[in-house]
Amino acid sequence: MPNIENTPSLVHLRAMSGYKIVVAALFGAAIWLIRLLIRERSPKLDFPVMGSASDSEFSQAVLKGFEKANSPFIIPANPQLVILPMSMYMESKAHPAADVSAETNERFMGHWTRVQNTEIYSAIRQDLSKNLNIVLPLIQDETKYAFKELNIQSEWTSVNINSAMLRMIALISGRVFVGSPLSRSEEWLDASINYTRALSKVQDDYLGLGPVLSNIAAPFLSSYIPDAHKTATRVGEDQMIVSAAMAILDLASRPQYIGELREEVETVVAEEGEQNEDGNIYLGKAAFAKMKKLDSFIKESQRFNSLAFVTPAYKLLSNATFSNGIKLPKGTRITFPHQGLASENNLEAGNAGPDVFDGFRYARLRELPGLESKHQAASTGLNQIQMCPRSKDNLTFGHGPHACPGRFFAIYEVKNLLVELLLHFDFRLAGTGDDRGQEAIRPANVAHKISNMPNPGAILEVRVRRA
Ligand code: HEM
Repeated sequence: MPNIENTPSLVHLRAMSGYKIVVAALFGAAIWLIRLLIRERSPKLDFPVMGSASDSEFSQAVLKGFEKANSPFIIPANPQLVILPMSMYMESKAHPAADVSAETNERFMGHWTRVQNTEIYSAIRQDLSKNLNIVLPLIQDETKYAFKELNIQSEWTSVNINSAMLRMIALISGRVFVGSPLSRSEEWLDASINYTRALSKVQDDYLGLGPVLSNIAAPFLSSYIPDAHKTATRVGEDQMIVSAAMAILDLASRPQYIGELREEVETVVAEEGEQNEDGNIYLGKAAFAKMKKLDSFIKESQRFNSLAFVTPAYKLLSNATFSNGIKLPKGTRITFPHQGLASENNLEAGNAGPDVFDGFRYARLRELPGLESKHQAASTGLNQIQMCPRSKDNLTFGHGPHACPGRFFAIYEVKNLLVELLLHFDFRLAGTGDDRGQEAIRPANVAHKISNMPNPGAILEVRVRRA
């Protein structure tokens, strides 16, 4: 299996001498010429531009555009994005000119990395989602194993939350997708974890180089990624890692939620838990469905910490005219203002305003008649907007025919990590001391252009639960 340390990089390229440089340059130039012939630049458009290309991140630009205009606006990202009003959401998803594959392919250099693999999409939709009852015990068993690996003792142990999630999610997902013992082998885990880092590195390097260099460097950059792991499920896994880390940080920094969530989990375990031959207690789908407060907390964490400020972009493969008369040329990358939706959320049922983290806002909404099964962490839906006019939904998992097929799996995985943490461990943010009543300061997320990550230095202190 390729080792990321040994694969070519731009640094290695610079270190190559003599004829190798000439050969590489000729090869690169040939690729560049071919690509130049087929490459389209972002079309010139007459919409207002929010933010500037030099902005380090676009959350405020998206919010401003969303609040000011009920019409398209431009975010000067690289490549440029056109943000459409939500009224165009369903039409644009179904528009024959809009192709999500083309955009994903380009952003993740699918031609070289083969990230795009639509056969996997239907496997996830059909196999994974329909077999969640088989998958759930595997997730639970492996979560226990992943915690055991952390070797938490009765005294506080410091854990870097991002590194822990990288390894734990790699273990848990690996158990489901490739099975043990392979999923627990260091070789697999190493490749799996490095892939996650490698994919974002490829993306950053590629997009940072500009049109000429990116074409030359692309084939070399793609070799950062171990071959075995270039699939769409891995892109979903990145999102799970980030979601889990965000939710744990939200909980550790708001210890006032821990007691109520623990109580809910313990009640459900007592009522629904089933003992397996291995002596461990397992929970089925019905048990997880009863954890409405935990579900709400995860959904609120996802709303409060958008992983991306816009929805995944679709690229127009031909000129398109929409029913409201808006015309967009071929090559336009269209997307929707995720950050805007997340900021005007769910004021019914006495819920707090959108700028406040209100962990049980969705659980409260589900107490309203007719909304019992709505507003779940894995549910998508513009329908919820129609049913409950002041209760907007966010688009964490998209909506419609291309909504994320891995969302049920992802939510079970994140939920189960929290269940295990709540049941068996005490935890707090580093530096909080023993005063559990105080809100700790959550290390700030790190936003970059259109995406948002948990602080890489965030440290959690964990010990075996005492009370
Ligand atoms: C918290 C974790 C995750 C988040 C936030 C997330 C989010 C998303 C979003 C926003 C989309 C695009 C929806 C659209 O275009 O309307 C998407 C698509 C997709 N996701 Fe996820 N995802 C997650 C986890 C996963 C996992 C675990 C898997 C696989 C097991 C997965 C597989 C996919 C696939 C295959 C697509 C493409 C679907 C299509 O184009 O038809 N995702 N995801």
